[in-house]
Amino acid sequence: MQLAICPGSFDPVTNGHLDIIERSSRIFDKVLVVVFTNPLKSPLFSVEERVEMLREVTRDLANVEVDHSDGLLSDYALSKDAKVIVKGLRAVSDFEMEFQMARMNQKLAPSVETVFMMTSTEFSYLSSSIVKEVARFGGCVRELVPEVVAQRLAEKFGRQAR
Ligand code: PNS
Repeated sequence: MQLAICPGSFDPVTNGHLDIIERSSRIFDKVLVVVFTNPLKSPLFSVEERVEMLREVTRDLANVEVDHSDGLLSDYALSKDAKVIVKGLRAVSDFEMEFQMARMNQKLAPSVETVFMMTSTEFSYLSSSIVKEVARFGGCVRELVPEVVAQRLAEKFGRQAR
């Protein structure tokens, strides 16, 4: 059984993340979407909220499960005996950081390969950060995130979902 891990902050999950998760679920037998801590970011949503949203938006994907970890991605992958980490690449600007993380994860867990999937064109400009900024100032995020996430963002910022 080929297990793949889709790691990320998912703060919150966007349609761009979902694109990568769905496409991964067609390639691998099982996909574990895992919420990790990114020490460079201060999250808007708690880990529990992020996991809840991810479970809701992936519930129709039979081979996808959601988990969280506050440890190293490489340790998590080894603990699950996973051989593959899937990361989405939007643009050249993602490359440097992703390259560094992939190299480090390879050093920490040589049996685990990081594979990169190109984000579909319509999501190439999308990030959780830009979605949060638009939602914070009352912009419409409906085509950028699943409905449940648009609702949660509106609640967080004390606004009506648009
Ligand atoms: O969605 P993000 O913020 O780009 O995802 C980055 C993430 C969470 C995958 C990365 O920060 C991570 O792997 N965090 C877990 C801790 C870890 O293993 N750090 C070393 C990475 S080489």
